[in-house]
Amino acid sequence: MNILHVASECAPFVKTGGLADVVGAVPKALAQLGVSAKIALPAYPALSSLVKQGRILKAYEDLFGGPARLISVQSDALDLLLLDAPHLFDRPGNIYLDETGRDWQDNHLRFGALCKVVAEIALDGVEDWKPSVVHAHDWQAGLVPLLVKMANRQDAPKCVTTIHNIAFQGLFHWSAREFFNIPDHLFTHEGAEYYGQLGFLKSGLAFADKITTVSPTYAGELLTHEFGMGLEGLLQARQSDLSGILNGIDTDVWNPTTDPALPAPYSARNRVKKHNSRDALESRFGLMADPSSPLFCVISRLTEQKGLDLLLQSLPHLVTQGGRLALLGSGTPDLENGYRQAAQQFPGRVGVVIGYDEQLSHLMQGGSDAILVPSRFEPCGLTQLYGLRYGTLPVVGRTGGLADTVVDATAENLKAKTATGIQMQPGSVDALNTAITRTCALFARQKVWKSVMGTAMRTPVGWQQSALRYFELYQSLIAK
Ligand code: ADP
Ligand code: GLC
Repeated sequence: MNILHVASECAPFVKTGGLADVVGAVPKALAQLGVSAKIALPAYPALSSLVKQGRILKAYEDLFGGPARLISVQSDALDLLLLDAPHLFDRPGNIYLDETGRDWQDNHLRFGALCKVVAEIALDGVEDWKPSVVHAHDWQAGLVPLLVKMANRQDAPKCVTTIHNIAFQGLFHWSAREFFNIPDHLFTHEGAEYYGQLGFLKSGLAFADKITTVSPTYAGELLTHEFGMGLEGLLQARQSDLSGILNGIDTDVWNPTTDPALPAPYSARNRVKKHNSRDALESRFGLMADPSSPLFCVISRLTEQKGLDLLLQSLPHLVTQGGRLALLGSGTPDLENGYRQAAQQFPGRVGVVIGYDEQLSHLMQGGSDAILVPSRFEPCGLTQLYGLRYGTLPVVGRTGGLADTVVDATAENLKAKTATGIQMQPGSVDALNTAITRTCALFARQKVWKSVMGTAMRTPVGWQQSALRYFELYQSLIAK
C-alpha cells in the first residue's frame, strides 16, 4: 500500500503546531503495518540542507512565477518529496505569515503550487512509485483532491482529506481559480466555491473520497453551526464519509524515561525524580519553590481558540488558591503582553516565556503538576496527551479531542481509579476558576493525586490503535 501525504508542516523539520507532529508520526506508525509512505512538503529555508542532500526528480521552468524542482530525500526515517521553489518558499520567519504578521499575499500560489505538483505525482507517480491513496492535510493541501478529480482519469488514486482545524480554511479571491484552471461546473456551492471565494479546504472536503478529523467528538461537533464555521452544511451532506480518528503521540520522542530534556528520567513506577524537573523549571521561570503549591503549565499558541484570554482573567484566582503558573507560548500581541504583565504582577507565582522552544516544552511537561488547556474548541490537542504520559495532569475544556482523552476526576471516576485529569465546561472564566479550585483541592490530597498520576501515565497515548484505523480506511478505499 502506497500513501502520499501532503502537508505544509512536518516534525521534526518544520513545525508551528500539532499538524507537524501528526504528519511526522502517522507515516512511521503505518510503516509498521507495511505501508510505504511519502510526504510532500514545501522546501522552506529550514529544509535547505535536506534539499542539498536530495535527488532531483523533476524540474519546472516556471511554476507560478519562478523555477522549481521536486527533490527526493530521506531523513529521520521519513521519505520526503520537497518542493524547492525559492520564489515561493525561501522567506524568513513564520511559514504562513509575513514580517507584519499577515498571511503572505500569495499563499494561494505557494500552497496551490504544492497541490499542483502533488496532483501530478498522484496521477503519474515518481520513479517507480505510485500512490494508491493521497492523503491531504488541512487547507494547504485542499486543492489536491480537486485537481486529481479534474484529470478525470480511471487510474487516479483515491483521496482522503483530514481536517486538523476547520478555523483555517484557505479562502481566496475567486480569480485565483484561473491559476488552477478550475472549470465553472466545479466552482459551485457544492464544489470549490465558498460564498464567491475559492475555498482550499472546501475543495478538499467536496472532492475527497473520505474525510477524517482528529477526534471522534470533533467529528460530531463539526456538523453543528457552532463548530462547523460555515462548512457544517457540506459536512452534513458528506456525513457518511466523515470519521474521527484520534491523534496519538510519538511515544519515543515523548518519553519521561529517556527524555534528554529532563535533568533526571522518571517513570510511572518510579516518579521521585519528577522533582528534579520541577526544580529546574522553577529556576528557569523564576518561580518560588513551594512543594505545597501545584505548578500549572501552559504550552500553546496564544489565541482565542485556546481560551488563554480566560486564563488571564483567572490568574488572580489561581494564585489565591495557592497555585503557580509557568507559561510558554506565542501568538496575538494582546495575549503576549497580557502574560508579560501578569508575570510582573505575580512575581514568583507566574513565570512567562514568550516564544517557541521545543526543548523547554519537554522540561515543562516533566516538571509541572498540571497542564492547563482551557480551549473553546480543540480538534484533538496534543499537549494534554504529553501531559498524561509525563504524569502532568491535564485540566481541559470538555470539547473535541480533550473530551475524548481526559477522564474527569469525579468522585465516581476517582473511586473506579479511571480518572486522569479535570474537565470543565469550555468558554467561561467561572468554569475555569472552578476547575482550578478542583485541581488545587485534588493536589492537596496527595495520595489520591498520585494515584490519578499513575492512571494518567499508564493511559495508552501512542499511535497503535489510530494507525490501524487509517490503515483500514485506506484499505476500504483501495478495495473500491
Ligand atoms: P495546535 O496544533 O492547535 O497548536 P496541539 O496541542 O495539537 O495544538 O499541538 C501543539 C504542538 O505545538 C504541541 O506539540 C506543543 O507542544 C507545541 N507548542 C505549542 N506552542 C509551543 C511553544 N511556544 N514552544 C514549543 N512548543 C509549542
Ligand atoms: C490542529 C488542532 C489541534 C490538533 C492538531 C493536530 O492544529 O488545533 O487540536 O491536535 O491540529 O491534529
